Amino acid sequence: MTHNRSDYIGDILERRLSRRHALAGLAGGALVGIVGLSLTGRRALAAGASSLTFTELQKVYDQNDHVAPGYERQILIRWGDPLVKGAPDFDPAHQTAASQAMQFGYNNDFSAFLPLPYGSGSSDHGLLAVNHEYVNPQIMFPGLTEDDVPTKTTKDQIDIAMAAMGIAVVEIRKDGGKWQVVKDSPYNRRITMMTEIDISGPAAGHALLQTSADASGRKVLGTNDNCSGGTTPWGTMLSGEEGASTYHAGDPTKTANAALFERYGYEGEDELGWARFYDRFNLQKEPNEPNRFEWVVETDPYEPAQPPVKRTALGRFNHEAATTVLNKDGRVVVYMGDDDTFEHLYKFVSKGRFDPANRAANRNLLDEGTLYTAKLAEDGSLTWLPLIHGEGPLTPANGFADQAEVLIKTRLAADALGATKMDRPEDFEADPVTGRLYVVLTKNAKRKADQLDGANSRAGNKWGQIIELLPLGEGKDADHAATEGRWDVFLLAGDPSKPEEGAKYGEGVSANGWFFNPDNIAFDPKGRMWIATDGSIDFGIADGLYGTDTQGPARAATRMFYACPKDAELCGPTFTPDGATLFLSVQHPGERSKSLAELSTRWPDFKDDMPPRPAIVVITNAQGSEIGV
Ligand code: FEO
Ligand code: CA
Ligand code: CA
Ligand code: CA
Repeated sequence: MTHNRSDYIGDILERRLSRRHALAGLAGGALVGIVGLSLTGRRALAAGASSLTFTELQKVYDQNDHVAPGYERQILIRWGDPLVKGAPDFDPAHQTAASQAMQFGYNNDFSAFLPLPYGSGSSDHGLLAVNHEYVNPQIMFPGLTEDDVPTKTTKDQIDIAMAAMGIAVVEIRKDGGKWQVVKDSPYNRRITMMTEIDISGPAAGHALLQTSADASGRKVLGTNDNCSGGTTPWGTMLSGEEGASTYHAGDPTKTANAALFERYGYEGEDELGWARFYDRFNLQKEPNEPNRFEWVVETDPYEPAQPPVKRTALGRFNHEAATTVLNKDGRVVVYMGDDDTFEHLYKFVSKGRFDPANRAANRNLLDEGTLYTAKLAEDGSLTWLPLIHGEGPLTPANGFADQAEVLIKTRLAADALGATKMDRPEDFEADPVTGRLYVVLTKNAKRKADQLDGANSRAGNKWGQIIELLPLGEGKDADHAATEGRWDVFLLAGDPSKPEEGAKYGEGVSANGWFFNPDNIAFDPKGRMWIATDGSIDFGIADGLYGTDTQGPARAATRMFYACPKDAELCGPTFTPDGATLFLSVQHPGERSKSLAELSTRWPDFKDDMPPRPAIVVITNAQGSEIGV
């Protein structure tokens, strides 16, 4: 637990260089320069100086959002805004499921910018693919309090809520320096809890996926808890179903899937009251319905007629991220975290190779390959353990009849292999310049002093940390398919003025630059990391966005750029290819309000007849230059 934490804010450059020599695959002094910064760039930076030169925002917590001086912020699209052709204007007093299914959904999370036309690299015209994670009925519908939600929501309200979840595809264009939604675009699309979705891969059709509505085990109605995600080299969107264990009623111990329910946290809460109207959300009536969720969903925003597909080869758990890296040999690697306390890290390596000349040939690339889980040893070594039926403990005698069961019961399979239990893995991203991976661990207050390890090093961890994974090789030479690598601590979040929190950042972090609870991250085209937080409001400050270099003198010296309105978390940072536009997803503004009668904010409209509305914010500057510089 003392593993290489104390020295990483010392002479970082020297340490990187010596370690690079030590890494296998980099023998012969194959130094590739200080990764991410040219030699001239490095010389230009004074000790502690960041390549991010924006004026930091002051720490703040109020009803509005705030961005660093010199930047413009615009609301692009809000909950209820008309999206699909024929959609009515948002009318919160007369909302229907049919209108909601044509409007932008609730609690936007991950966002991805996909240029139009496909492959053009455009930075002023594209498709924004967005996840709509969950709902807050007590501040969506008048007359409900938080306590009423499980028992008093009407069927109409439940149908609206189901239509507000899922995924949205939005065509957007920059005209005269302002971003606009292209209304009625044929690309505009909503996927909801009532959209038919295909199930593919090794677990498709398995008996554990069959229900009374679907004897095939290959078709499921809807997707929910779509949290973070990713895009693929062929321009599709991956959406992580983060787990909806609280949406089902019934006694899980009285079903054939009791052990599975216990491991996946199903207790029959019926938190949203859905089981009162839909039997598929009753564990005793439909014990296999939950097995049809908690997968990664692939959607093709460029092909609106293509149904989304749940890719079972990528495993079943509380999926947060699904970040794809094109390996040097053409195989596709998807990095994923399981967002719960003491859960594991995963990666999937495709069997086939990406074909850049034939987009359609890549359509089912994520159906065949190997899923791995990670072991992070105290000595800094990283091992990826394959989840292959028949190997090691993954046998029928241990409850894994075939590969489908290994995937449906991924958490149990990873437990059996001895994977490292992490402090709630959220986002998991690759630096596009260095090829290094960053795992965001948001917090784990349940970790006890006798459960510490190098990567999860603080008991009662209320603050979170970011871990760096180093594949063999650097940049384009990195081997993401290898089963070996190294790991390091990137930063330990928390208030550095309080020694008891044990926070560690790079040199020069200001009183505004530190944060709590990192969640989603994104890299700009130059490989600077941007960190969105979820949880600061427990400490009385706004969640927001922080930028940092990952290499050089200001490695892990985070700087504050954006602050959310009250009760909101920040999700889905994403850049256009030129780095000049930043999309931010402001999720659940006003969430801690007990009802619409006593709101903490009415962001972003601030009108008496409008509830708070989750929305996508666009950040640009008047010069049209890169964000952060
Ligand atoms: Fe949906 Fe892990 O945040
Ligand atoms: Ca979230
Ligand atoms: Ca998240
Ligand atoms: Ca979170």
